[in-house]
Amino acid sequence: MKKIKIAIDGYSSCGKSTIAKEIAKKLGYIYVDTGAMYRAATLFFIRKGVSAEDPNLKNYLSELHIEFKSINGEDLPIVHLNGENVENEIRSLAISNQVSYYSKNKDLRQKLVHEQQEIGKNGGVVLDGRDIGSVVFPDAELKLFMTASPEIRAQRRFDELRSKGDLVDFEAILENVKSRDLEDSTRKESPLIQVEDAIVLDNSHMNRDEQLEFVMGLVQKKLN
Ligand code: DC
Repeated sequence: MKKIKIAIDGYSSCGKSTIAKEIAKKLGYIYVDTGAMYRAATLFFIRKGVSAEDPNLKNYLSELHIEFKSINGEDLPIVHLNGENVENEIRSLAISNQVSYYSKNKDLRQKLVHEQQEIGKNGGVVLDGRDIGSVVFPDAELKLFMTASPEIRAQRRFDELRSKGDLVDFEAILENVKSRDLEDSTRKESPLIQVEDAIVLDNSHMNRDEQLEFVMGLVQKKLN
């Protein structure tokens, strides 16, 4: 069967990874959470004490190794930074507050985009991020642009962090969602844009099953 590339772009916390994981599982495709790569890179630089504006940032890139590895027999690979499982740490508000600044760096983007292209070059992949349909795989057979209202997205992120025991404040999350939307869509390097051939999925009032049905319908058309 044909193996296509599926690009899912959109604003932060609108459920891209949830839908991307489910689609990948259904199709037996590889799932690449590109946001996790930018988050892991952010953690790397914070630990090194290198600021997002540091002109020497690119000199550290050769020490940055990000990979996705399955742990405990789980089928979904987890992001590892230089061999360490950093899944929990990269979801914290501290990283969310910094990641948009590091993701503006051209050299960092070049490195991560290249790695994403290598993982996905043979198709059979679902990638989610901000620049997948525009930069990483402009030739993707299916491109989705996901969105939802900022309040709904903030509530989802709030519930997720609270369920992990993180005592976050709703207003702080909403502020982070809004400022990342702005930073991600107005930056010079590969801003978040809705490409012409992307199909918009506004999931403000859709549950998971409705979203999955909608996307699987689009996938089937591409596979026929
Ligand atoms: O998808 P996410 O919220 O985990 O992504 C975290 C940040 O990483 C996001 O605010 C911008 C950046 N990012 C990016 O610049 N390009 C991507 N392809 C994915 C994420």
